[in-house]
Amino acid sequence: MKHIISLKEQSKKDILKMLDIAQKLKKNNKNYLSNKTLIMLFQKHSTRTRLSFEAGMTQLGGHAIFLDAKTAQFSLTDFADEIRAVMRFGDILAFRAMKAKDVETAASFNKIPVIDACSEKYHPCQALSDILTMSEFGGIQKIKKIAWLGIENNVSNTLKLACAKLGIEVAIAAPEADKDSVDKELNKMAEETGNVTKTLNLKEALKDTNYVHTDTWMDMEFFQNGKVKPKWKKEYERRKKKFMPYQLNAKLINKYAPKAKIMHCMPMHIGYEITRDAIDHKNSIIFTQAENRMHMQKAVVMWLLGKM
Ligand code: CP
Repeated sequence: MKHIISLKEQSKKDILKMLDIAQKLKKNNKNYLSNKTLIMLFQKHSTRTRLSFEAGMTQLGGHAIFLDAKTAQFSLTDFADEIRAVMRFGDILAFRAMKAKDVETAASFNKIPVIDACSEKYHPCQALSDILTMSEFGGIQKIKKIAWLGIENNVSNTLKLACAKLGIEVAIAAPEADKDSVDKELNKMAEETGNVTKTLNLKEALKDTNYVHTDTWMDMEFFQNGKVKPKWKKEYERRKKKFMPYQLNAKLINKYAPKAKIMHCMPMHIGYEITRDAIDHKNSIIFTQAENRMHMQKAVVMWLLGKM
């Protein structure tokens, strides 16, 4: 049984197959999934992932059930027992989990395909849909180099690995990694391709890059009514000092990578990892990037169910 957890388990051929399915489905939908149910178990908030899976299942003639973990019975019982019961009601499970190990537990039963819909370590659907978005500018072979700015995290992990497997150069300009996101095995796998470079020199990271990505490094828990809570003031100041030099803004793009497209997986924290002038820059493809989540979710479900 196939699952999509971290992309460690997918080959270059698998990734290209899902890309091909997504490109076809973006042009032409059919009721391939009538009577199929996607269960979406979410332990964390979401806008794009929830909408893209639900809309995608509707477009394919199937159905998606959203289950907010807080309103289900998980807190009362053993996780493994409850997830085994949940999986009896659907054909595929998308699980946005606090811990990747819980996604792995669900997958380990091998009852239905399981998708990590963003855990602390991985965000495979984001990486796959970002590849779809980048491929729309002349094909996959035109993506020679991407740069990642800011913090290394769940999103950069899976994007780095997917791109490295496809032979795309990945330049990471990040002074720190989110400690909960670190997966040494994934890092080794990506680095062994020879396609990953790390540098804190922005000119070097951005040289000849086709796409520049970033993600949040400021925790929204730090704020209340637009002000920093006193207990987070020190950490807020530390992060601002550490990461602000890697902010994605128009000045940086215009100076070092005037042809590079600007990407952000959203939600964005304006004035921190990205500025308004970068979001509205002529090179920004952020909103197409958001829409493509839906086209790739459809491909992921179709691929896991062996439908195309
Ligand atoms: N990029 C992303 O996963 O967005 P959501 O958290 O809104 O789903």
